[in-house]
Amino acid sequence: MRRAPETLPQMQLKDPLGTAPTNPSSSKSNIILTGFMGTGKTSVGAAVAKQLGMPFVDMDDEIERQAGMEISEIFSRFGEGHFRRIEKDICRHMATLSGTVIATGGGTPLDPENRAAMCFAGMVVTLCCLPAELGRRLEGDTKRPLLEGTLKSSSLAGLYEQRKTAYDSFPFILDTSNRSVTNTAQRIGDLWRDAGSRSKSLLVNVPGDQDYAVYFAPGALESLGVILENRGIESKIAVVSDSHVAGFYLNTVLRSLRSSGFDAFSVVLPPGETTKSLHYASRLYEKFVEGGLDRRGAVVALGGGVVGDLAGFAAATFMRGIPLVQCPTTVLAMVDSSVGGKTGLDTKDGKNLIGVFKHPVVVCADVDTLQSLDTDEKRCGLAESIKHAFIGDEGLLRAFEDDGCEAALDPENLSRSLEVKRRIVEQDPHERGIRELLNFGHTVGHAIEAHTRYSIRHGEAVSLGMVAAARISHRMGTCDSGVVERLEAVLRQTALPVRHTWDADGIIPFLSADKKAFRCTPRFVLIRSVGEVENGWKVDAAVVRDVLEEMRIDGL
Ligand SMILES: NC(=O)c1ccc[n+]([C@@H]2O[C@H](COP(=O)([O-])OP(=O)(O)OC[C@H]3O[C@@H](n4cnc5c(N)ncnc54)[C@H](O)[C@@H]3O)[C@@H](O)[C@H]2O)c1
Repeated sequence: MRRAPETLPQMQLKDPLGTAPTNPSSSKSNIILTGFMGTGKTSVGAAVAKQLGMPFVDMDDEIERQAGMEISEIFSRFGEGHFRRIEKDICRHMATLSGTVIATGGGTPLDPENRAAMCFAGMVVTLCCLPAELGRRLEGDTKRPLLEGTLKSSSLAGLYEQRKTAYDSFPFILDTSNRSVTNTAQRIGDLWRDAGSRSKSLLVNVPGDQDYAVYFAPGALESLGVILENRGIESKIAVVSDSHVAGFYLNTVLRSLRSSGFDAFSVVLPPGETTKSLHYASRLYEKFVEGGLDRRGAVVALGGGVVGDLAGFAAATFMRGIPLVQCPTTVLAMVDSSVGGKTGLDTKDGKNLIGVFKHPVVVCADVDTLQSLDTDEKRCGLAESIKHAFIGDEGLLRAFEDDGCEAALDPENLSRSLEVKRRIVEQDPHERGIRELLNFGHTVGHAIEAHTRYSIRHGEAVSLGMVAAARISHRMGTCDSGVVERLEAVLRQTALPVRHTWDADGIIPFLSADKKAFRCTPRFVLIRSVGEVENGWKVDAAVVRDVLEEMRIDGL
């Protein structure tokens, strides 16, 4: 038993804000307005605050107050870099505010850490405006230091284009060109009342690709049309779903898209893992052609991980790739499969053997959809949430321990669970190293699934796999027995299995067949303590066998 020489980099989670609150569930969400100069952030922000009876903070005013001088003076005396540093500090502070309307500066979201902080702080709405209207609004404005040169060089539209990618990464984009301040404020107020006040969002930074927001909110599907407005989707939208999910939510989605002016059609497939196949991928291509989908359109995946993986694969490959929107409706899809960009199809030779990376443009997770989800599906999805808590967030684990699994279905805790995955995949988007940490419990879990010919649910297999990984860790001396006891207690509390009835010798051969095995040698993710895991461990088959035998009880 020794560490593999090819051991991959060990876990090192970065806190993007430097300010992760210890108990974020106690805070109320904020409304954050952003967008280019002249789109109306300050006037609309003040109107929204008045309408909802919330305090209003204008970041530019706050910067001037802190610096004791006007922004133009900060620019001329200390330069833009100094201004951006103050802005960044204030942006971090936003994460500690609660129930406030905040208008950011026009350049605030250009910095990826600022974007992450904004999403973390609440419901972010980007205001946009047609360039001609912007020019008219900004004429004669002398207070904006970046404006003078920009207008002189007639490159207002150019500057806007440069910033557009950053603005477009947020969940909501509202065009204010032909709207009054009151009308825009009203629309934002409605969004807030419908979904925003209990919403949570986070931003996934994809190196070399566009950031995308994951938006968790009750009733979010009703806002899907608004979420997709002004995202450059000019053509048809294909909504892909399975017949279970479609029965509950397809009409809501089509209504929302159509009321925002989209031309949407649906493709409904049979539910279940067998649909994740090349056969159904070709069926989708045929339906896409029939429906007139092209590269200016988009695919919406409405369903669990099966629909997400299949529709994601089809969106990645149809016409060499068209935009994808993920609308996850299972716990597993919300905390795991809708984010990270993996898509997969099964073949007769194995699960997820075919796949490509395809990131969505936005993830819209309507937590109300979990109400119709089967209890067993919820329970099994929670296995991944518990995994995230063990590998990266002890506070989340405490929330599960104190409040039970219902707490895990709260938007705050769902997003917190996904946050662990986000931090890992951002550091290793293509699974060349640290992303393997997400495999905690999956090495033995996959072997159990294969041994039982997939008759066991994935979440149950992962639950047993995590117990095995923790017990192996204890045997290898990386953790104390307290970690094992804590893991088993929270899994039992969620009605997930911690004991099994199979002969260990039946499971062992499947370990080396795992996709993530290296030269037929399985590699384990072991745990040191909650929040501290390591990948790349080689473990003697005898140790795994002993552990599986000690977990075995007859007649379970
Ligand atoms: N791409 C990734 O990163 C990734 C990660 C983990 C898992 N996966 C894949 O995800 C798949 C499993 O996903 P899953 O667990 O979501 O299963 P699933 O998509 O099969 O959904 C489970 C069942 O619940 C039904 N359902 C879904 N949402 C519902 C709702 N709100 N109300 C009522 N019924 C609903 C479905 O019709 C289905 O019958 C596997 O194929 C797995 O390989 C992918």
